[in-house]
Amino acid sequence: MTVHNIGIIMNGVTGRMGTNQHLIRSIVAICNQGGVELDNGDVIMPDPILVGRREQRLRELAEEHGFSRWTTEVEAALADEYNQIYFDAQTTSRREDSICQAIKAGKHIYCEKPTATSTEGALKLAKMARDAGLKNGVVQDKLFLPGLLKLKRLINGEFFGDILSVRMEFGYWVFEGDWQEGQRPSWNYRKEDGGGIIVDMFAHWRYVIHHLFGSIKSLSCLGAIHIDERIDENGKRYKCTAEDAAYGTFELESGIIVQANSSWAVRVNREDLLTIQVDGTEGSAVADLRNCKVQHRVNTPKPVWNPDVPNPHDYPAQWQEVPDNQEFDNAFKIQWEMFLKHVVTNDPYELDLLEGAKGTQLAELALESWEKRRWVDVDELKI
Ligand SMILES: NC(=O)c1ccc[n+]([C@@H]2O[C@H](COP(=O)([O-])OP(=O)(O)OC[C@H]3O[C@@H](n4cnc5c(N)ncnc54)[C@H](O)[C@@H]3O)[C@@H](O)[C@H]2O)c1
Repeated sequence: MTVHNIGIIMNGVTGRMGTNQHLIRSIVAICNQGGVELDNGDVIMPDPILVGRREQRLRELAEEHGFSRWTTEVEAALADEYNQIYFDAQTTSRREDSICQAIKAGKHIYCEKPTATSTEGALKLAKMARDAGLKNGVVQDKLFLPGLLKLKRLINGEFFGDILSVRMEFGYWVFEGDWQEGQRPSWNYRKEDGGGIIVDMFAHWRYVIHHLFGSIKSLSCLGAIHIDERIDENGKRYKCTAEDAAYGTFELESGIIVQANSSWAVRVNREDLLTIQVDGTEGSAVADLRNCKVQHRVNTPKPVWNPDVPNPHDYPAQWQEVPDNQEFDNAFKIQWEMFLKHVVTNDPYELDLLEGAKGTQLAELALESWEKRRWVDVDELKI
């Protein structure tokens, strides 16, 4: 049995996503389980070097999780041949330049979405990595959420008959920062810093729609800045220049209509922060992050509109839970394991920088639709 130790440069690891999802729930969890086992019995063991600006924070984070390698000098980490992978979870606007630098240093690339703030920039990264023969991957975590995996199971099992429409509802109230601290970083609300819910969420909508329901033909989107002033991490009032809500409609090649509401200015009155309702000729389903419930056509009640009498139906009780039937691991960790295997064994890995660029393309087209107040066609993006 061979152990493949892989040095991974983790940049942006002190951030919300970097620390929680990528370091603790993925890399630390993989190390604690003894690495990623390959079919031939070999094991891949990730060996991260934590990169950031604040020495003190990096040292604390490394010590807390039993790692010995950290640096404030990304160039030095890139120059070290032991580090085969460059991972990036910095703020979005820093990603493109940083990944360019890592590709030039010959590192395989794994990164958060969006990969860049423009389609041109995102496509450039995909082309550079391909031309340099480097493995590359982009986080598409929602595909591995238990609720969405159950939805995919229903689709594969042909539960729905013909799928007619899909309603995706994402969002929650993000505090403005005055009387209660905001639970998202302030750059999210500044366009000049790479913020905005369209750039953020359409990167997700693209791969969710593509993998579950098919290719997108065209879209229309209306954005809004509902809250126009917030208080930042230093208690300073700032003007919100990026949209905090987006109301999108997608027409798929198959004729399925998908609606996606994304909002950081909505109070949750649904089962979770993301719910996806799918209606088909044979049945319907509603998935959230972990669960999925169904209503088959034979169990469909026959409501009649009559506001003059009390509602006789308990609608939520008329649905049936889809069982787990398997163990579900953390979505980010599943994708990390797939990528590590891809680097060592050449296992196919479809969720690459080109797929990531298609997310940025969708966001860019949504912004165009909002600005021009019209439907926009989505052309197949190629390198
Ligand atoms: N996959 C998902 O579900 C998901 C969810 C939220 C965010 N994200 C993405 O993850 C990325 C990070 O988001 P976050 O919410 O963790 O942000 P964050 O602000 O919490 O973290 C950003 C990181 O970038 C670093 N950074 C910022 N400015 C820097 C600079 N000038 N020089 C060096 N480092 C700098 C910070 O130190 C921090 O480590 C974003 O691109 C975001 O779109 C993905």
